[in-house]
Amino acid sequence: MVKGRRILIGVSGGIAAYKVCEVVSTLAKAGAEVKAILTDAAGEFVTPLTFATLSRHPAFTDKDFWQANHGRPLHIQLGEWAEVFAIAPLTANTLAKLAGGFADNLLTNTVLASTCPILLAPAMNTDMWEQPAVQRNWREVLTYRRYHAANPGAGMLACDRAGVGRMAEPHEILPHIESLLYTKGDRDLAGKRVLISAGGTREHLDPVRFIGNPSTGKMGIALAQAALHRGAAVTLVHSITGELSLSGV
Ligand SMILES: Cc1cc2nc3c(=O)[nH]c(=O)nc-3n(C[C@H](O)[C@H](O)[C@H](O)COP(=O)(O)O)c2cc1C
Repeated sequence: MVKGRRILIGVSGGIAAYKVCEVVSTLAKAGAEVKAILTDAAGEFVTPLTFATLSRHPAFTDKDFWQANHGRPLHIQLGEWAEVFAIAPLTANTLAKLAGGFADNLLTNTVLASTCPILLAPAMNTDMWEQPAVQRNWREVLTYRRYHAANPGAGMLACDRAGVGRMAEPHEILPHIESLLYTKGDRDLAGKRVLISAGGTREHLDPVRFIGNPSTGKMGIALAQAALHRGAAVTLVHSITGELSLSGV
């Protein structure tokens, strides 16, 4: 599904940057062409070398942005190259720049120089996430057609707090990227309500025994994810599933 597809990963400066290494590694092993852009702050948490090694492609920083040896400007090349652009983690700072249309580094210039769908995976401390200005920026960017949300979850954060703001896990981000590659971010199901059932049925004979089947629910979840990306309002009815990784349903 991702083999040969061109996926650009934008990494901004949050502690969750280390988790994105797994996203890049998984995509590259599956045969995708993956390139990464790191902000200066991201470079404080992870190195371009890590991403370049995992992706088998150069990883770019603002130093590259200001080099004259790329032929055409780097942000234009990368923007035209990408089929899907995933920004993970998305900091409060970079989110504000996207909401305002700012372009002061390689990552934000590439956003403006591209037309592909963009997946956003915010990550930050709960108090930061709940700030009215951050919430306003988040709502603002999601009104633009090209931005898609990998919503942050709740859990233990790196700052020893439990709350919302934890970046979506790699196993949640990967299906988002796959479905954006498939739908190209089209929202042709906007205004539709889709009901999907997923997972095996359990018909209990008594409290401990049941007649069931080994359905994993993966197909239903994939369908729900794709319908969600195409703009539908999705209701997912599921039985017990190993990992339910959908945001926005
Ligand atoms: C240890 C540490 C952890 C940080 N974690 C986050 C974070 O998870 N989310 C966030 O929005 N900002 C976080 N920041 C702040 C950003 O790094 C800072 O706002 C930076 O300017 C972001 O730049 P960028 O958006 O260009 O990457 C953190 C800063 C430090 C020092």
